[in-house]
Amino acid sequence: MRTRLAALLVLTLAGCGTTSRTSEHAIDPRQTPTWSSDDERFFLHGSMGSEFVPERMYRAFFKTYPDLYPGGDLSAYGVIYEPGKSWPIGFSRRETPHLASLPSIGLNCAACHVAEVREAPDRPPRRVIGPPATFDVYSWVGAMAVSMARTTEPENMVAYLAHFMGRDVSARKDAIMAAVREDPFTSKGMAPNSLHDIPAADLASDDPVVVARATLKLLYNMRTSLHLPEQLPPPVPVIPGPGRTDAFSVVAATVLGLPARFDAPVKYAIPWNLDRRTWVHWDGNNRDPHARNIGASLGLGAPSTNGGSLLDFELVRRQTDLTQVIRPPRWPWSVDDSAAARGEKHYRATCASCHDGVPESERLHALDRIGTDPNRARLFDAKMADGNNRALASLTVKGYRHGDAPYRATGAYWAGELDGAWARSPYLHNGSVRTMGELLTPPAKRPRSFRRGSTVYDKAALGFVDEGAFVLDTTIAGNSNAGHDYGTDLAEDAKRDLIEYLKTR
Ligand code: HEC
Ligand code: HEC
Repeated sequence: MRTRLAALLVLTLAGCGTTSRTSEHAIDPRQTPTWSSDDERFFLHGSMGSEFVPERMYRAFFKTYPDLYPGGDLSAYGVIYEPGKSWPIGFSRRETPHLASLPSIGLNCAACHVAEVREAPDRPPRRVIGPPATFDVYSWVGAMAVSMARTTEPENMVAYLAHFMGRDVSARKDAIMAAVREDPFTSKGMAPNSLHDIPAADLASDDPVVVARATLKLLYNMRTSLHLPEQLPPPVPVIPGPGRTDAFSVVAATVLGLPARFDAPVKYAIPWNLDRRTWVHWDGNNRDPHARNIGASLGLGAPSTNGGSLLDFELVRRQTDLTQVIRPPRWPWSVDDSAAARGEKHYRATCASCHDGVPESERLHALDRIGTDPNRARLFDAKMADGNNRALASLTVKGYRHGDAPYRATGAYWAGELDGAWARSPYLHNGSVRTMGELLTPPAKRPRSFRRGSTVYDKAALGFVDEGAFVLDTTIAGNSNAGHDYGTDLAEDAKRDLIEYLKTR
């Protein structure tokens, strides 16, 4: 139930502008020692059962609404395009029954959990699994919602159909517009959460009016699976930007019917060494990987109609099993060994008591002790845990067996392993501290804002450079960079040594 992305709407392209990138570098095989090349292909492009837009419709959106899709593709949303592939990393394509069985496009785990790192703007990128992607899911889903809403307007439908059908439809303009005005949302007489049966032949018809009517039904099925309302909701108070989303607020609002403030954006969390952990998420609230990922799939577009029985659980199982065995990435550049040896002593003295070899139950640290932004830890309270557990228990997804209380409320934050710490930038659960150097700076002296979205890495400070179209303003509640002041009183050379040591983890 992680992400009912549907409610995450932004009506502008604020925060976009990350340029299109092409990745040539393969993943370091030490990150995925047990994967076959087919596993890797499946992780990057395979389905998690959540396709929600027919490919042909999506391409027609690109042409009809160039303001939402500059350059005619998804580059504006921080995705990674690869040579020879039509869709970016993290996008899947599959024939989807409730979308007239058309080949349709959806997201998978890799959209948020694969990143690129480069030494300099002109150097080729390295692909790394686990660090938060630069993908801006909020703006991206907002563009989808706006495209869908616009297409239920008569004039736009005419323009859209010309692109979808690949020919001039102006002779039938009045009839198309009349058909749209008659029933733009096609929800009359539909039971909640039910779906239209759409004959593929209607979408292949030569008659633009027949195609218009079928398109409206498609849009209805898409809205239902994405839990989108007919009218666009207002923008959220804290715009997440690249690499973050307020997943549990979305779940609260759209699945559980609980009040949600949308003020707790978090960094996409980091899926390393999962087979060695019991509880995951920033507050350690979940212990059932299948439950977690079924939630992600239903949230990202698989229809929850009939208890989610249309969901292909085998796809979710395979994505989950692959994710359980991803290892942290090694520092790809050189290290000063003697500085690292000195730094290890500081690490042992100042950091290891919380971050190393600590039993699971003691990984959680209360808000008043750790002092970082409280919104995310407070958001997931007992009501949320109970609501999520109930929602999961009511599912009838074939092959999925509901475990005992997959969710709990902790009200605290998790001190994760610091292996691969360099690639966790920007730091903290809300991604509010850009570099390790800044994390080791007293909170009051940390920069109040920085830019996000760049893949260029600052090797000395340990973090992505201060570039990108999105500005993360840490003075907004939910974005606070306060707290976690450990190691901030070390001498400057001790901090440098500690940072050198962290590169070796
Ligand atoms: C739209 C972006 C997005 C997609 C797609 C996505 N996730 Fe995540 N993932 C997140 C966010 C955000 C969190 C943190 C949630 C929180 O704790 O509030 C997260 C957390 C996790 C965690 C917990 C890691 C930790 O250190 O606690 C795992 C594991 C994970 N995701 C795996 C997956 C898998 C497997 C899939 C595909 C089935 C997937 N994710 C799809 C955004 C995404
Ligand atoms: C008292 C326990 C404690 C100590 C001591 C401690 N940490 Fe942490 N650390 C945490 C907790 C809890 C979090 C999660 C806080 C959050 O995300 O809001 C965290 C988060 C982090 C993160 C962010 C991880 C990410 O994915 O963004 C880094 C990096 C980190 N700590 C490094 C250090 C270093 C380096 C030291 C020693 C100088 C240290 N910590 C000392 C408890 C501790």
